[in-house]
Amino acid sequence: MTEISGRAAVVTGGGSGIGMGLAKELARQGARVVVADIKLANAQKVADAITAAGGTAVAIACDVCERGSINAMRDAATAALGPISLVFANAGATSFTPLAEMSDDDVDWIVQVNLMGVMNTTRAFLPDMIANGGGHICATASMAGLLPGWMPVHVPYSAAKMGIIGMMMNLGIEMRAHNVFTTAYCPGGVASGMKANNGAYRPDRFGGPEPVAEVQFSGSDTTHSTLAFYRPQDIAPLVLNAVKNNRPLVFDHADQRTLFRQTYADVVEACYDDLEAWQAEHGVPEGNRTGADLIE
Ligand SMILES: NC(=O)c1ccc[n+]([C@@H]2O[C@H](COP(=O)([O-])OP(=O)(O)OC[C@H]3O[C@@H](n4cnc5c(N)ncnc54)[C@H](O)[C@@H]3O)[C@@H](O)[C@H]2O)c1
Repeated sequence: MTEISGRAAVVTGGGSGIGMGLAKELARQGARVVVADIKLANAQKVADAITAAGGTAVAIACDVCERGSINAMRDAATAALGPISLVFANAGATSFTPLAEMSDDDVDWIVQVNLMGVMNTTRAFLPDMIANGGGHICATASMAGLLPGWMPVHVPYSAAKMGIIGMMMNLGIEMRAHNVFTTAYCPGGVASGMKANNGAYRPDRFGGPEPVAEVQFSGSDTTHSTLAFYRPQDIAPLVLNAVKNNRPLVFDHADQRTLFRQTYADVVEACYDDLEAWQAEHGVPEGNRTGADLIE
């Protein structure tokens, strides 16, 4: 069980959408909260709202793509609220540009903010968490990471979000002895600033903010023509419940079981069937535990 009340938490991307919902719910459940965001004014509004409601929060600027920025945010967060034992690595951004039309900067930005942003945030806070006896890291991935077929035209984003799921699950095993738990949250449609404001988050070193037309989901794709968006404040308690129970994964839409089976269960079963049929006919290759003498 991971306690929320009485602990200090950081939420990256806390100035808007899902992160704002998480920051407010953390405070409502008794945590002291650092609202960290590349848009300091937005983070400040969320921190002010928490304070006005009787909670404890501070706003700190950070760009999760920059290790120095994250480390400086960690130092300021710890100085303001004490050792941080709950980290929500939530900042992210999307792109609906087909891969062949993306510039180098487009690709680098999407991978840096979504994948390396979570890596940088995790690495910044992990050593203190271990030294202080434990904690919890919850990274916001996406259904587009768990089920890459869920969101077309999202190649670097799907790769990054799938990477986050692998990162959190592998880290969870590595951290067992240290009382640090991990969760990968896979949103599947939450009303947020992402559709309209996404281009505004682009840091200068990736070409700077750019106007992006509001994202329109494709009507030809059945998943998104029927996609329901939930409110961040309705989703945050569900995510915190998964954190409290140390669940490795948490979803917010219950309608993707069929796609899950099509993506993994059916494909993986067929893959094993093919392998077993091949090996029945051709035999299992010789191997040994060290790999020695196998390279000709
Ligand atoms: N809304 C959805 O349906 C949905 C679905 C799947 C995944 N997600 C993921 O949820 C997370 C939160 O997104 P959201 O939907 O709330 O969108 P949002 O646009 O409302 O919030 C994203 C926040 O991240 C901040 N941010 C962006 N780049 C940053 C950077 N480099 N450093 C620090 N902060 C930065 C933005 O300023 C913003 O406050 C993202 O990781 C996103 O990929 C959202």
